[in-house]
Amino acid sequence: MKIEKDQILQALSKVQDPLTGRDIVSTGRIRSLDVEDTLVKCTLLYTENLSQQQKSSLHFACISAVEQNFPGAQMHVHLETQLRQGDQPRSILPQVREIIAVGSGKGGVGKSTVSVNLALALKEQGLRVGILDADLYGPSIPKMLGLEGMRPKIKDVHGKAKIVPLEAFGMPVISMGFIVDADQAVVLRGPRLAGILKQFLQDCLWPDLDILIIDLPPGTGDIQLTLVQTVPLTGAVLVTTPQQVAVADAIKAMNMFRLPSIDVPILGVVENMSWFTPAELPENRYYLFGQGAGKQLAEMGEAELLGQIPIIQSVMEGGENGVPAVVNQETDGREVERWMSLGRSLMKQVEIRNATKDPTRIVGIKS
Ligand SMILES: Nc1ncnc2c1ncn2[C@@H]1O[C@H](COP(=O)(O)OP(=O)(O)O)[C@@H](O)[C@H]1O
Ligand SMILES: [Mg+2]
Repeated sequence: MKIEKDQILQALSKVQDPLTGRDIVSTGRIRSLDVEDTLVKCTLLYTENLSQQQKSSLHFACISAVEQNFPGAQMHVHLETQLRQGDQPRSILPQVREIIAVGSGKGGVGKSTVSVNLALALKEQGLRVGILDADLYGPSIPKMLGLEGMRPKIKDVHGKAKIVPLEAFGMPVISMGFIVDADQAVVLRGPRLAGILKQFLQDCLWPDLDILIIDLPPGTGDIQLTLVQTVPLTGAVLVTTPQQVAVADAIKAMNMFRLPSIDVPILGVVENMSWFTPAELPENRYYLFGQGAGKQLAEMGEAELLGQIPIIQSVMEGGENGVPAVVNQETDGREVERWMSLGRSLMKQVEIRNATKDPTRIVGIKS
């Protein structure tokens, strides 16, 4: 019997985290996981105080989850209660657990729509989520979240000016659009934009977050480079539409993250505008832009296709009226579930990534 790590993670994702009531995988409790033949060794990290009873039921739940699914497997669980040396908190944004960039090859594929609805879906699932909109050429996030025309406050902290993120639907949000007007944006050059991004990461009062979603400009440029030089990303999500022409550009964006010198894991691909279903023919799917690009891109990046989002009028309207589809009471439950499922798929990939790969390193700056 060959047991794969992700099968074990799948089994452990049924074990409840005693502190949040969610599962131990998506809450990031798995410190390490080793599988040698039929011996499975798992370390859980809990720096909070757990009662003796919580500890033993957690132990028992992990062992039975694995041994039930893999009869013959032997499960050793170790509960670690302290951060190890080398687990030093990040120097920038130590209060943010996972930083995830959302990129695309081209503009207009729905990158911001996906960033916003995905972030809100993760928030609905109990995670603390923030959004950083780094796409100055088309900063649509203020409009999508009903924050258009607003300016963040500046707060003095020990003599240093800090930016206070705005808030929408219980999420902290910062956007280039709050700082620079759209018509001014086009004349700003790369280095100036990169400077603003750095400030958003270094001089912004981000609260404790499980996930910070960064909506990147399309393509590969100064912003992408500055990002990987400033903070260690958990990984990147690529958004594409189903057309073949979109894939060619998306591959370039993906390959930048995969360069050996950058080495940011690809967490997965979201295919947006995958099909259209008219309201009066709910069973019909019209593949207006063709099929298969998302899957193809995911395979090329050795990553998962996290989900497919059809063309939906309410998604587009949500982008216009400041109430995204996921949090709009009028949105069809099945459409909300599509975003929820996307959120769950992403978190599963985050946990697999964290259990199987070393933390990302900040890219060094050569001068
Ligand atoms: N699944 C979808 N269904 C309907 N309209 C969508 C969908 N995804 C995006 N849109 C619309 O397409 C346009 C471009 O989306 P946007 O998220 O701004 O793209 P990007 O950030 O990649 O430039 C917006 O008007 C948005 O509302
Ligand atoms: Mg956008």
